[in-house]
Amino acid sequence: MEKIRVFASTDYDVLIDAGLLDQAGDRIAEAINFQKDAVSITAVIVSDDNVFPLYGERLKESLNKRGFKTLEFVFPHGEKSKSLATYGELLEFMCESKVKRSDMIVALGGGVVGDLSGFAAASYQRGIAFVQVPTTLLAAVDSSVGGKTAVDLKSGKNQVGAFYQPRLVLCDTDTLKTLPKEEYECGCGEIIKYAILESDEFFDELLEKPVSEQYEHVIATCVNIKKHYVENDEFDTGLRMKLNLGHTFGHAVETCSGYTILHGQAVAMGMAAVTKAASEMGLCSKETEVRVLEILDRYELPKDISFKIDEMYEAMLVDKKNTGAVTNLIVPTAIGNCRIMKIPTDKLKGWLEEGGVED
Ligand code: NAD
Ligand code: GLY
Repeated sequence: MEKIRVFASTDYDVLIDAGLLDQAGDRIAEAINFQKDAVSITAVIVSDDNVFPLYGERLKESLNKRGFKTLEFVFPHGEKSKSLATYGELLEFMCESKVKRSDMIVALGGGVVGDLSGFAAASYQRGIAFVQVPTTLLAAVDSSVGGKTAVDLKSGKNQVGAFYQPRLVLCDTDTLKTLPKEEYECGCGEIIKYAILESDEFFDELLEKPVSEQYEHVIATCVNIKKHYVENDEFDTGLRMKLNLGHTFGHAVETCSGYTILHGQAVAMGMAAVTKAASEMGLCSKETEVRVLEILDRYELPKDISFKIDEMYEAMLVDKKNTGAVTNLIVPTAIGNCRIMKIPTDKLKGWLEEGGVED
């Protein structure tokens, strides 16, 4: 088992191993210091309608066996549910069920479940404990760690949220076996991002052996990289921005497609475009560009953006991160090395053009 301690405003462990779901009761009790003779704690299991039928009962059984009472809140899967409406329903459900400040939320699912549950935990009665049990590859390597929680507004993604760290992250790699192929590929997009950001050696490992054949190692490597960013910049004012590699253009792709292109696919397109542009401008070598495009191909991720420059630019202006005169663009200079470049926002069109997006 991999055990990684994250030191942030709340310190916590990230545990990564096959079969952890059946140990959830004991592991969570240890993390929150729940004694056997203490008054019972209620764990509100929050999940979606794909994940709960697969793993909900096992989680519940493990929690009950250790003396936790359990409640379930299951909502329809998908980004549409990461809304103020679902958030409100969850809070009302907890209040009606007399959930107390000493109780907790256990988020069982992908990033949608984790982000929504985390924000509910951050705000219900001014904050209750929460545990992340990520079941997508993207959630395992990214969203379950670092404490960014949020819901979407109609006018924008992740517009309401809080920084609120979990008390434990329990990643059972066995749950990834049921992940649809597209969702696996999306997780791989984020994993490739970590390699481009920080490690040439990790990049080669991803080329040599598929992620699915080395889950524990790959997830631990990504969590260790993310831990470094979070510990040095928990509230995202500097270094942590690097995690946005591929996201400036990627978010615009998601918006232009009406969210039919998945996040990880859009990030892959964004990484391809920014690397092509960097190579054209002499900020990285042609070899770096070729290697980035090669690994995206290897993981069957899309590279080409079919939206026009003007559409993309308009979509970028909707993103809260690009509303100022200057945008922080994350630019690869080599595999394992990226820099934050302050680009006048109106110059982003030029970057799109150099990145191969058509006029
Ligand atoms: P998701 O939660 O929608 O999950 C994707 C799909 O996979 C869903 O249909 C879900 O039901 C299904 N699923 C989940 N686990 C499964 C399993 N083990 N077997 C079968 N099906 C399973 O999407 P996601 O990609 O995990 O997360 C995307 C969300 O994460 C976005 O809202 C994004 O904004 C957010 N995010 C947050 C952070 C952060 O730091 N908080 C970072 C990256 C992304
Ligand atoms: N996923 C980006 C971050 O956690 O900062």
